[in-house]
Amino acid sequence: MTAPSALLDRLAQAKRVTVLTGSGVSAASGIPTFRGANGLWKNFRAEELASPEGFAKDPALVWEWYDWRRGLIAGAAPNRAHAILARWAKRFPHFRLVTQNVDGLHERAGSPDVIRLHGSIWELRCWKDCGAPPWEDPRASLAPLPPLCPRCGGLARPGVVWFGEMLPREPLMAAARATACDVFLALGTSSVVQPAAGFVFEAMARGAYAAEINLEETPASDSVHVSLRGDLQEALEDLEKALPPSGGD
Ligand code: OAD
Repeated sequence: MTAPSALLDRLAQAKRVTVLTGSGVSAASGIPTFRGANGLWKNFRAEELASPEGFAKDPALVWEWYDWRRGLIAGAAPNRAHAILARWAKRFPHFRLVTQNVDGLHERAGSPDVIRLHGSIWELRCWKDCGAPPWEDPRASLAPLPPLCPRCGGLARPGVVWFGEMLPREPLMAAARATACDVFLALGTSSVVQPAAGFVFEAMARGAYAAEINLEETPASDSVHVSLRGDLQEALEDLEKALPPSGGD
């Protein structure tokens, strides 16, 4: 894929670059996406599992799904796309990385100050919100399932944001501020889950040049300045190669 010259020119001159990533950035690490090809687990849609209603109905099933994802992520490594984005934090004077991913692979690749909109799969909370502070558990598997709250002994839940839930205030505010930028890149996200899906439009309204990279068309494709159809690792490598050498390398 040849990087379009308009995007390259904008990136070459940009001081403020904001990147929004979705699960497509981790696909090459072997982590399944939520939508698109292979987006289903045992024929359940993400909305049926990743919601308070889904958990209330069948906590064991939801935990089985999260435990399976934890195992995959624990055995996975950041890929070349994660690595390039980690390098870009040094290339651009003001670089902000906003992610919907809960896998922690951006952090493992070395990206600093990742704005995590949907929490972390390695964090747990009390389902009944008994007052126990959220806790980290880095084990690949939490079996026997379901894990329990160490304070009240009731059910624990994953420390991620589910459908129908509010996003944590601080990352949400930080992401909203980051829409003030010169170039906004939406990478490997289906651009259907709000509020993240709206950030690219907010950025454009504030004067940013916007691009997306995705294997498929998304609801943002017709609106962004450039929509690249292809694999993220390859597309980012092409972009990085075509950019002028950076002092930070
Ligand atoms: P989705 O699973 O909805 O979309 C992933 C996107 O990545 C799809 O549009 C794919 O076409 C694209 N994709 C996959 N592999 C790719 C590759 N190698 N190169 C380029 N593009 C690729 O993931 P998100 O947009 O992150 O939320 O989903 C948003 C939220 O919905 C998630 O954070 C999660 C989910 O339910 C919660 O759990 C709250």
